Amino acid sequence: MSPPSVPRRALTGAAAAPVTPSNGPHDPRVPASGVITGSREKTGGGNSPRPSGSTPTRPKTPPPAPTCGCYAPGVRIPGPEEIRALHAKHAPTAEAFASVHRHCELVWSIAEQLLASPRLSRLDAELVRAGCLLHDIGVYRLYGEDGRLDHKNYIRHGLLGQELLESEGHPAALCRFCSHHTGVGLTRQDVVSQNLPVPPADYLAETPEERLVMYADKFHSKSHPDRFLTPDAYAAHVRRFGEEKVFAFQALRDEFGDPDLALLTPHVEPLTPRVGPPPVSG
Ligand SMILES: [Fe+2]
Repeated sequence: MSPPSVPRRALTGAAAAPVTPSNGPHDPRVPASGVITGSREKTGGGNSPRPSGSTPTRPKTPPPAPTCGCYAPGVRIPGPEEIRALHAKHAPTAEAFASVHRHCELVWSIAEQLLASPRLSRLDAELVRAGCLLHDIGVYRLYGEDGRLDHKNYIRHGLLGQELLESEGHPAALCRFCSHHTGVGLTRQDVVSQNLPVPPADYLAETPEERLVMYADKFHSKSHPDRFLTPDAYAAHVRRFGEEKVFAFQALRDEFGDPDLALLTPHVEPLTPRVGPPPVSG
């Protein structure tokens, strides 16, 4: 299943279509069709009068690549087919591809549903889609030669994904979705106090697009069997990491609203607080 194309910065406002999870492993041998979406560069700007006979001035050097996750005109956003091909390129096995790529698609389905709210119309939907579809691509680098996932170092998948995207030449505004979607915001204190295997630093989602990707990620777990989590179930899960995490999650709920998970799949399990992703997963 590949999400449909969406216009830049805004969705149609129509309710998200129900999503049917894939019935089997995706074939990772996908041709890189390389669907490229429209440029972010502004056009026009020709309202200023130009003296008669003057030579049109060429645009100066393009703006530098963004060094933060802020909205950055000029950043080329890969489309779902290009991203799917990237998954296929880096997935070590068909099973890994099926698990990770399907999860990313479901996270996008959740975010897409939330983006239908008029109050989120300011967000860049195309950037959110790319962020959702790419955010866990670093998980592939945690599979061993035996095909097993290194759960002990799972939290490293964010930085590994950032490195992977950087190696593919993607800008920081995209790479950050990988390294800044963990939990409800991974802090330096979390890293130190839990002795996590990542460099001590704050890995906090900053832009609305980053926060939405991080939030949407909380409602689907790749655990076996994979499952959806209701907002209340995730709130109960995250409480073990401290009240500040509960507040942080509630702030995200207030900002983006609760998704209607029943719209996403007919296979949603009864949800209870007992289920949940690995600690500070994401
Ligand atoms: Fe995820």
